[in-house]
Order: sequence, then structure tokens, then C-alpha cells
Amino acid sequence: GKSGYPHYMLKEINEQPESLRQTLHGRVDALAGKVDLPEFPPGTFEDVEQVQFVAMGTSHHAGMYAASMLTAHGIPAHAYMAGEYADCPPPADGRTLVVAVTQSGETADTLNAVRRARSAGARTLAVTNVVGSSVTRECDDELFIRAGPEIGVAATKTFTSQVAALTLLGERIAGDVTGVASAGARDLLAALSELPGDVQQVLDDGTAREVAEALYGCDAYFFIGRGPAYAVALEGALKMKEISYEHAEGFAASELKHGPLALVTPETPLFGVLTGKDETKTLNNLKEVQARGAPVIVVTTPRHASAASFADYVIEIPETEPEAAGILANVQLQLVSYYAADLLGRPIDKPRNLAKSVTVE
Ligand code: M6R
Repeated sequence: GKSGYPHYMLKEINEQPESLRQTLHGRVDALAGKVDLPEFPPGTFEDVEQVQFVAMGTSHHAGMYAASMLTAHGIPAHAYMAGEYADCPPPADGRTLVVAVTQSGETADTLNAVRRARSAGARTLAVTNVVGSSVTRECDDELFIRAGPEIGVAATKTFTSQVAALTLLGERIAGDVTGVASAGARDLLAALSELPGDVQQVLDDGTAREVAEALYGCDAYFFIGRGPAYAVALEGALKMKEISYEHAEGFAASELKHGPLALVTPETPLFGVLTGKDETKTLNNLKEVQARGAPVIVVTTPRHASAASFADYVIEIPETEPEAAGILANVQLQLVSYYAADLLGRPIDKPRNLAKSVTVE
């Protein structure tokens, strides 16, 4: 049941401290600065030359997030929309690791991409929530995100658990390939250990709800970010369109002036996800948007909060490492979408025209 919550989505949003604890349980040795994934014996990934993530929807955004982390470690990585990958497969061989990210393990596009990758001779690894799902039968290896069952059509706790699990996997791959733990590994793993408590702080903060109350019913909603925060921006927009039926789009902050800025009016609130180390450029983008009259909402850590004080709304998240900050920003955006959809009277757990799992392309 819904344990007293009006919707499964709100229940699942509130379960995230616990689901993340399950995802991370026994896998993080913060003191030693080591990731412990017994699924993969030492050296499992030492021959990997490139990583291709294949996934759809929210899982694709988790793959994008992971690809930017691996790229930062110097490992060539890219996230493909699985449907596109299956139609137009990129070069892959035995030193390519193809990671299929799928909550259900049943998404047809993703299963097809895995088949294409296998026939090219690539190694395949499933990152999924469902034990015994089709993707686990199609892939060489598997890593379970352990988020627990998700009933709402909108993916929430499975996204944060995917990102957490992929962060661990990324550290492991980088460690195997380079032979050493990454420079930031200790800080990152300490931040991941704090994540369940940090998510609880976000859940106890009422700002997302106030923003939804102030801004629901506008013409459109835009979301921008750079690097991993670009994936968070895309995910913020997907959640908003899916459950509120409002027009919502995510853009790379760098793309704004190359077209999307023409859409900006006083009736199009724009959310900036500022979770990187240096966000000077995104802050400037937000000032330009504000000068066109659009309400600007910044989701960020205390590190950037004073530089962002010009914004109409600042939604704060606890101070942490950038890789973990994206997860916290995502939880705030889940809450904004949830409350906006609720104020609009939408059937939040079963949005029109959508199914929890897309088994036909
Ligand atoms: O089960 P999967 O993770 O493979 O599903 C992929 C997408 O269909 C899914 O994430 C979809 O975009 C969600 N409804 C988003 O909330």
C-alpha cells in the first residue's frame, strides 16, 4: 500500500534515504577510499577501452550522468539512447563495455541495443532493479541497484539508486583501467556515505513545495545544467512533463544562446542546476534569462548560494561532492514536479498514455 501517502510517487520519493542505504550497503569502504563490488573479481575491467551506456528515459539520464563521471576519469564513455543505438550502432568490440541501464530490465529498446552490442562482440553488463529480469539473461554480468519495488510510473528512487550504483561502478572501472583509485575517491565515497542523511535533509526542506505553489500553471518550464548537471536538468524536465503535462524541456546551459533563449518569456520559469565546482558560466546564463523576465530558480549547494542570490528562488541542498550533489538536486526537482502536478490535479501515479515499462518499441 501507500503507507498513508496520497500517491506512490510521494511515498517513493520519501523512501530514498532507505533505498540509497540499500544501494550502497556493503559496497563503500569510505575509510579505505575503496569501492567493494564482490560481483566483479579484481581486474574485471582492466581491458576496457571504452564504455557505452544504453538506456531510455530516466535510465538514459542516469547513463549520461555516469558517462560524464567516467569521462572525467579519462575513460572514453558515452550514453546512447538505446533505441538510437539499436538503429545505428556505434563501433564496438571486445574491449568495449556496454552497460545497459534499465530499472525494469524489460525495456524493448534497451534489450535490442544489448543484442546489437553482443553481436559486435562487446562485453555487456546490466544495471537493473529487477532480479531475474530479461536484461539479466541477455547480459554477461549484472549489478543490482537494490532500490526496492517502484510502483509509480515516474521513476524517482530508482534514478537516485542508479546514479549511486553507477558512481560506484565508475570508480571500479577507472580503478581497474588505471591501476589506482581516482584522486577524489576518498572524498567521493565519504560523500556517498552521507547521502542518505543528506537526502533526508532535502525531504525535510519545504522550498520545492513553495516554488511549485508560486509557479505552477505557467506556459513552459526549462531546466539547464552543465556536465552531470545537464543530465539532472533533462531528468527534471522529463519528470515535469510526465506527471504535470506541462511543457518542459532540459537544455545544456551551453546551448541556451544557440536557440532555446528565444523561447524564454516571463511565463517560462527556468531552473538552473548548479552542482559543479565552478558555475560562473551557468550563473551568467541565468542572469541573461532573468533579464528577459523569466523567473529563475537555482538548485545549488551553499558553495554557490550567495553568487546565486539574484535568483527569484534558491533551492538549497547540503554541501557535498559534485557527483553526489546532482542526486540531491534531482530529489528537489522530483518534489517540484510532484507538487506542481498535484496542484494541477493530475493522476500522478498513472499519467495518461504512459506505461511503467515499455516492452514494444
Ligand atoms: O525500466 P527502464 O528503466 O528501462 O525504463 C525506461 C523508461 O521507460 C523510464 O525511465 C521512463 O522514462 C520513466 N517513466 C520516467 O519516469
